[in-house]
Amino acid sequence: MTGCSGCHGHEAEGKLGPGLADDYWTYPRNATDQGLFELLFGGANGMMGPQYVNFTTDEMLHIMAFIRDIYQGDPKKAKWLTQ
Ligand code: HEC
Repeated sequence: MTGCSGCHGHEAEGKLGPGLADDYWTYPRNATDQGLFELLFGGANGMMGPQYVNFTTDEMLHIMAFIRDIYQGDPKKAKWLTQ
């Protein structure tokens, strides 16, 4: 996860970029797998650039699985579980 931890922290606790393990999303679409993939692939704002230059699609899916795994927020907000 070296490509992400520089900005998001080794435990995804947040650093230059926002924490990814809590239940707050800047972008609500990240609650769905499709939205999260689009954000990772195409990038967000500021330093969060498109990640397709660094990772293959397969690696991207692994990263998504990792993000879902470290999620610590309210399970009711974990929409991807019910979709
Ligand atoms: C160069 C620093 C940097 C790197 C490297 C980086 N990010 Fe980010 N990331 C950011 C910043 C800054 C934001 C906030 C962007 C915004 O608000 O538009 C962000 C936003 C995000 C978001 C949206 C969070 C939300 O609350 O909606 C996700 C998900 C994310 N990053 C995942 C990743 C993953 C996974 C990687 C590795 C593949 C990664 N980032 C690599 C800086 C970085």
